[in-house]
Amino acid sequence: MKTPHDSLSERFAAALTQAFGEDYAEVDPLIAPAQNPKFGDYQANVAMSLAKRLGQKPRDIAQQIVDALEVSDLCDQPPAIAGPGFINLTCSADYLARLASDAVDDQRLGIAPVDDPMKIVVDYSGPNVAKEMHVGHLRSTVIGDAIARTLDFLGHDVVRQNHLGDWGTQFGMLIEYLVEQGAEQLDTLNIPDLNRMYQQAKQRFDADADFADRARQRVVLLQGGDQHTLHVWQLLVAESKKHFNAVYGRLNVTLADNDIRPESSYNDALPGVIEALEAAGMTSLSDGAVCVFMDQFKGSDDEPLPMIIRKSDGGYLYATTDLAALRYRIGELGARRIIYVTDARQKQHFAMVFAAVKQAGWAGDDVSLEHVPFGTILGPDNKPFKTRSGDTVKLVDLLDEAEQRAAAIVAEKNPDLSESDRTQVARVVGIGAVKYADLSGDRVKDYVFAWDRMLAMDGNTAPYLQYAYARIQSIFRKAEIDAATLPGAVQVEHEAERALVHKLVQLGPVVASVAQTLEPHRLCTYLYELAAVFSSFYEKCPVLRADNDEQKQSRLVLCKLTANTLKQGLDLLGIDVLERM
Ligand code: ARG
Repeated sequence: MKTPHDSLSERFAAALTQAFGEDYAEVDPLIAPAQNPKFGDYQANVAMSLAKRLGQKPRDIAQQIVDALEVSDLCDQPPAIAGPGFINLTCSADYLARLASDAVDDQRLGIAPVDDPMKIVVDYSGPNVAKEMHVGHLRSTVIGDAIARTLDFLGHDVVRQNHLGDWGTQFGMLIEYLVEQGAEQLDTLNIPDLNRMYQQAKQRFDADADFADRARQRVVLLQGGDQHTLHVWQLLVAESKKHFNAVYGRLNVTLADNDIRPESSYNDALPGVIEALEAAGMTSLSDGAVCVFMDQFKGSDDEPLPMIIRKSDGGYLYATTDLAALRYRIGELGARRIIYVTDARQKQHFAMVFAAVKQAGWAGDDVSLEHVPFGTILGPDNKPFKTRSGDTVKLVDLLDEAEQRAAAIVAEKNPDLSESDRTQVARVVGIGAVKYADLSGDRVKDYVFAWDRMLAMDGNTAPYLQYAYARIQSIFRKAEIDAATLPGAVQVEHEAERALVHKLVQLGPVVASVAQTLEPHRLCTYLYELAAVFSSFYEKCPVLRADNDEQKQSRLVLCKLTANTLKQGLDLLGIDVLERM
């Protein structure tokens, strides 16, 4: 389905061609929502922009465009010229009604898949094995998932990549400690235990030179493929995956086991990365370490900044693995857009990895490499969010608290709900609130984690939007109709109906802008505005007590389209709705 903006743009292209010739077909008509609804729905500013090129007065240009413009099926008043040469356009009620009824009859709400689907990798979440997921993993997981869902919806071929941190010297230390304590314990060890053991292992490592030596030996055994060591490591990975999957399940995140492509899976490719960069003449040795220096990266002292890709002891680094991962993603997966969702502190890392890959010629101009950075979650003291005792906040504890708090609110607001309904509502509202709070702000900014604000029933929150959805379902229940069987006919008479349809047809362009900018907060803002426009429609246009059956039917259809739009939008954010709450 075309938006009014699309359709009007096409008509302008035709009019410009007719008035001034083929060369003008591609000129941007500069169509924007009208600044003042008094003058119509849209205004086109193209006449001003063409004044110089045509050497004519904008008003004269506007007149020639309007004379050639064929919009009688979209607007019922002829386009009006105002001021220095604005062209004002008012959509006809029929046209708006057609847009609404086409959308409501369509599963995709009238949003067509893109014409040029691309293979797109989205790298997100990437927690580390043997560690419990903490609040620091929330943002990558939630933002990455919203981006992947949105690109999926638009018809792209999305490959999710969960770059688990499952390799490195720290595992030698942990495994050595576990073996020392009796590895058979692994049958009963859970992730919180491992978290603790990891800290104990670290203490041993720092305090006991003997242990440290054995831990280093253990790394060599692990890398050399020693059976027993590998076995313990595999148990660690398996146990960790169970934990990650449990968190993903609770968060309603689409990551599955076959999206996992951990650091260790690139082990065999690492020597080849070094060789290829050496062959490209990009490496130099510095104190025995293999480094890549690139002119554009300088330290604070203006000295060239190295990207180390192999340590003097032969060990590889985070950057080496990312270089190998990029080769795989471009060369084998055939990705044309590769998106990394990590916190802003990794900005420099990705800038260097991307630059190296371009310089080495592994990524041509047809491949877009994008780092999607985000800010830090802060506590009430404006410092990085910690527990009262100063520890990092475990993600499961955070989700538990979200559900508990939501349950208390639900119990107070709706005491008639059965125990099991209440648990279900609390889950959807609590988790939705946490996710939405993370998605709704400009992602590059830090934000303060505030329970009261994210769980509020008014304002730009998940509960507010979920409530708007549930309220519409309750209208259908009251009307005793099955929304699925509503006929699609719509009439658009009242100002508030016009405003609602105009807002509803914006979902497509908003989703497209999220796909382009990778900023899910644009979708949140849209849904919040939609809920407000709906409220005002509902206030001004009685639905159940409409003047006649036709009007009632039509308004019910607008309710249904609003509910479907809210549901679809929240789904792209990975947030569920409820039929009642
Ligand atoms: N494991 C990393 C961390 O905890 C995140 C991985 C991000 N993805 C990547 N390809 N580097 O910071």
